[in-house]
This record gives sequence, structure tokens and C-alpha cells, in this order.
Amino acid sequence: MASSPASGEARHLVLVGMMGTGKTAVGRAVAARLGRPFVDTDALVAERAGRSVRAIFTDDGEDAFRALEAEALAAALASPRPAVIAAGGGAVLRADNRARLRRARVVWLRAAPATLAARVAGADHRPLLDDDPAGTLERLAAARRPLYEEVAHAVVDVDDLTPEAVADAVLRAAGEGG
Ligand code: S3P
Repeated sequence: MASSPASGEARHLVLVGMMGTGKTAVGRAVAARLGRPFVDTDALVAERAGRSVRAIFTDDGEDAFRALEAEALAAALASPRPAVIAAGGGAVLRADNRARLRRARVVWLRAAPATLAARVAGADHRPLLDDDPAGTLERLAAARRPLYEEVAHAVVDVDDLTPEAVADAVLRAAGEGG
């Protein structure tokens, strides 16, 4: 686990974790409670590219998406107004992203692969899950666990919690009350 960033300065609060952990719903709830803007890196990538995440994967491939994702994350983190940021599940793959994330306050939303598989069922906007979603989630979660651990200042286990309950836990974990 990363050591806590220095206090006394308002920082971005970033949610990391696998697809299906609820980063977007929780991030919106946390942002509303803190009165901060909410930024979702997937939405920012799509907005900046003028194409959906799926279209970017299909047309240009995952590496191109990761480059756009890194730019979007850097732009979000460069904003002087402290925000709540939901980082796409694979944002931790790049070392430059991880170095940037460690300067923010990062909460890892963690869930068992079975929880993730149940939650992503029916959603079709994640191209990495087109084939064998349960197996892919299990494999990606195992590969990424050390990377989430490296950037996170706190972890919240989300398995049995509603987004509102996770938001409460995130605010407590981030030292923002709640
Ligand atoms: C990805 C997660 C997605 C999105 C893309 C790839 C991943 O974001 O960035 O489909 O590699 O884990 P969410 O974590 O917001 O679903």
C-alpha cells in the first residue's frame, strides 16, 4: 500500500479498481457529498477522441486506448480544482500513470472476481470482456492486484455494499469524514 500523501493540501481523490467495482457510481456519490467535480477517465477519453471507448479499441487497438487514457488521466490530475476521479480499471498498467496517481489520494475499490462477473453481466461497453468475461476478470484481477496495491492509500471491499455505503466507506478511508 502506498504511504499517505502529505496532508494540508486539497488533493484529487481517485478511485481505482477493476471493471465492475462501481467506480463511476461511487465516484459520483462521493463528488456530490464533497461538492467537487466528478471526472471519469473513460468518459473523458471518449469526449476528447469524439469516439466511444469500444470504437477506439476496435479501430485503433488497446495500446492506442491506453495512450489516450494516460493523457486523460494526466489532464484530470493537472486540474487545480480538487476533483473526484474514477480511473479506468486498466489505468494502473502504465508506470507513468502509477507515478501520477501516487501524488493524489487513491482509494482502491476491491471485489471478488465473482462479484465483478455478476455486476458486469449485461453491459456491453467493455471490449475486453467480449469473450469469457468471468475468466478474463479473474485473470486481470490477479495480474493487476499488485498494481492497485502499489498506488492505493486505502482499500474498500465493496462486495456486499451498495454504492452509497461504499461512498461512506471511501469518505472515511480518505479521511474526508462521512
Ligand atoms: C478497462 C476498464 C474500463 C475501460 C476499458 C478497459 C480495463 O473502464 O477503461 O474498457 O482494462 O480494466 P472501467 O473500469 O471504468 O469499466
